[in-house]
Amino acid sequence: MENKLRQIRDAALEEIEKALQPEEIEKIRVAVLGKKGELTAILRGMSSLSNEERPIIGKIANEVRESIEDAIKAKKERFEEEAMKLRLATQSIDVTLNGPALSVGHEHPLYTVIDRMIEIFASLGFSVVEGPEIEWAKYNFDMLNVPHDHSSRDYSDTFYFNDDVLLRTQTSPVQARVMLDKKPPIKIISPGKVYRNDEIDATHSPLFHQLEGLIIDKDITMADLKGTLDFVAKSLFGEDTETVFRPHQFYFTEPSAEMDATCFACKGAGCRVCKGSGYIEILGCGMVHPNVLRACGIDPDEYTGFAFGMGLDRMTLLDYGISDLRNMFTNDTDFLRQF
Ligand code: DAH
Repeated sequence: MENKLRQIRDAALEEIEKALQPEEIEKIRVAVLGKKGELTAILRGMSSLSNEERPIIGKIANEVRESIEDAIKAKKERFEEEAMKLRLATQSIDVTLNGPALSVGHEHPLYTVIDRMIEIFASLGFSVVEGPEIEWAKYNFDMLNVPHDHSSRDYSDTFYFNDDVLLRTQTSPVQARVMLDKKPPIKIISPGKVYRNDEIDATHSPLFHQLEGLIIDKDITMADLKGTLDFVAKSLFGEDTETVFRPHQFYFTEPSAEMDATCFACKGAGCRVCKGSGYIEILGCGMVHPNVLRACGIDPDEYTGFAFGMGLDRMTLLDYGISDLRNMFTNDTDFLRQF
């Protein structure tokens, strides 16, 4: 029995020494130490030995197992070392070589305009509020005093999910949300995406951007509206910019107006940008309608306010001299890289 054990050991150690591949080592391990291995079979048969023999043979068998295990471990480590050396020798990296050039992007011109707007309004103490693009018809139309038979409510003009839920057609519903949410004084702007069922062409897109503004406080008058929006136009286009307020009609304001500013390109002389008029249309505005205040839980005898809304896409086109609105949304990096 002793001899048999030593034979197993010597044969195993020799094979381990000779092995050239890690897989061969594994085969040897299974053949000797595995469940059906040679040594395992002997250890299993120990019960048939006499009480005197069993501890002696048991001790030798354990020593044999340990020496084989040690040899396997050492050989495996040698294989790993060699593999590592080979990798280091063949895969050298030259860390001084230039990598591929990283192309750095920049802000979309539309967002540069939005950021500039936010900066101007923030300097006047307005805070920025965001509203959802999927909106209740109630906020988009009803609370803004829009008549039930108004054409803008038509399915042909507005994207509805059902009778009550739609893609907002304007940023004005944010007004209602803010008034319902907190007590005056209120002084907010809200830029964001709006949607209308329009065909895409050089001046129309079913998705575009607006910026809404709202002030509610005691004793707010049309003079505050004009002073504030005139200041904004001058901040945007330069000190020498003049503004004109033309009467208009919106359902959520009374009185309502549209504000034009002297064309920043020709300073009022008339050019291609302003189509010869010397002015460009900037925004719609007005004193918040008492019906809107009431619908939003604000007493019109105690508080007044003004609101305004402007299209940001057209502003960006004018500012950057871009002739086609579609350029704003096609994500053509060759085009955008110019700005
Ligand atoms: N929501 C209007 C539109 O989409 C723009 C507007 C006009 C907003 C007057 C206002 C306002 O807050 O007072 O045409």
